[in-house]
Amino acid sequence: MPEFPVNASPIQQSLNPLQQILGYTEPIFNASMAGAAGGALAAAVSAAGGFGMLGIGGNATKEWIDNEAALAASSGRGWGAGLMAWVLAKNLEPLEQVLDHGPSFVCISFGEPGPAASLAHESGALVGMQVGNAAELSRALEDDIDVVICRGNEGGGHGRNEVSTLPLLQLALERTGKPVIAAGGLATAAGVAAVLGAGASAAWIGTRFAAATESTSHRNIKDSIGAAGLDDTVYTRAFDIAQRIDWPVQYGGRALRNDFSDTWAENLEALGAAVKADDSLTTSINGARAEGDTSLAPVYAGQSAGLSTTGQSAAEIIADLSRFRSLLRQAASRWDTK
Ligand SMILES: Cc1cc2nc3c(=O)[nH]c(=O)nc-3n(C[C@H](O)[C@H](O)[C@H](O)COP(=O)(O)O)c2cc1C
Repeated sequence: MPEFPVNASPIQQSLNPLQQILGYTEPIFNASMAGAAGGALAAAVSAAGGFGMLGIGGNATKEWIDNEAALAASSGRGWGAGLMAWVLAKNLEPLEQVLDHGPSFVCISFGEPGPAASLAHESGALVGMQVGNAAELSRALEDDIDVVICRGNEGGGHGRNEVSTLPLLQLALERTGKPVIAAGGLATAAGVAAVLGAGASAAWIGTRFAAATESTSHRNIKDSIGAAGLDDTVYTRAFDIAQRIDWPVQYGGRALRNDFSDTWAENLEALGAAVKADDSLTTSINGARAEGDTSLAPVYAGQSAGLSTTGQSAAEIIADLSRFRSLLRQAASRWDTK
């Protein structure tokens, strides 16, 4: 397992330990997002000085992992990959396949990391875990996890719906000296400044990057994120039930509200019965995903959709977010009066 450096040069000492190991100059990770964060997004984020993450979904094939990991590595800078613990509990192959491409960071979330964490460590990668409540935070403080990612329930995509980002971040910073990354609801330089000012080592940003030009999301999904307001999301398991995806029940997903969620989010029992009765709902939602019909397909996005725009490249997003430095300087000079 890599060790956090203690005898660093003066320049290195001005960096935080996670930066020294992973080599990012902008403390911004694109979230590992299945369906959005392929190799092109990861490479663009790393090339712009951030830390690019590949999102490996439950159905990723070996061919997809090989192609996208090679693309992620093509920036020549550090990159990482995020996988689901509950998928790896059944089959470690997707992790083995991505490790062959040499990521320096692996994030294993949504379930017990188990042997996946040791496997990643054996290959020399740092291991992170997204946590969504106090119990998961306690689990991440055990020795096999190097980096804690506090993911609040305002975040997009799957996760718990129990605690929001700032309370979780504050608890983690009180409880551990490990690097802590903040996730959920962050989309602007002000948000990044807030969590870095509190002591986070970096911001982990999903929704805004899902709308980036390099994201593999369907054009209509990006446009829907760009058009959404802060309060246009819903947290639900309805999309997973309809698609017959076996997400553990404690991990629903935050998505933009649409006709499908308006009909089913409050009627999960009836939805389960309808899906059991025949294939029509599953077929129509899978078709909607393929066609980019956002009235039916899930558009996974967090509350920060209301702060996100489409049509920006990852480099433009990172340049915008990097204004966190002047915000922190202004805040320091405003309050440093004693
Ligand atoms: C479209 C989308 C797909 C996601 N897929 C994954 C995933 O495959 N693995 C994962 O660990 N997290 C996934 N997430 C959750 C993100 O890692 C992260 O927790 C979340 O995006 C942070 O909140 P934000 O969207 O407000 O930035 C996804 C999020 C989105 C928006």
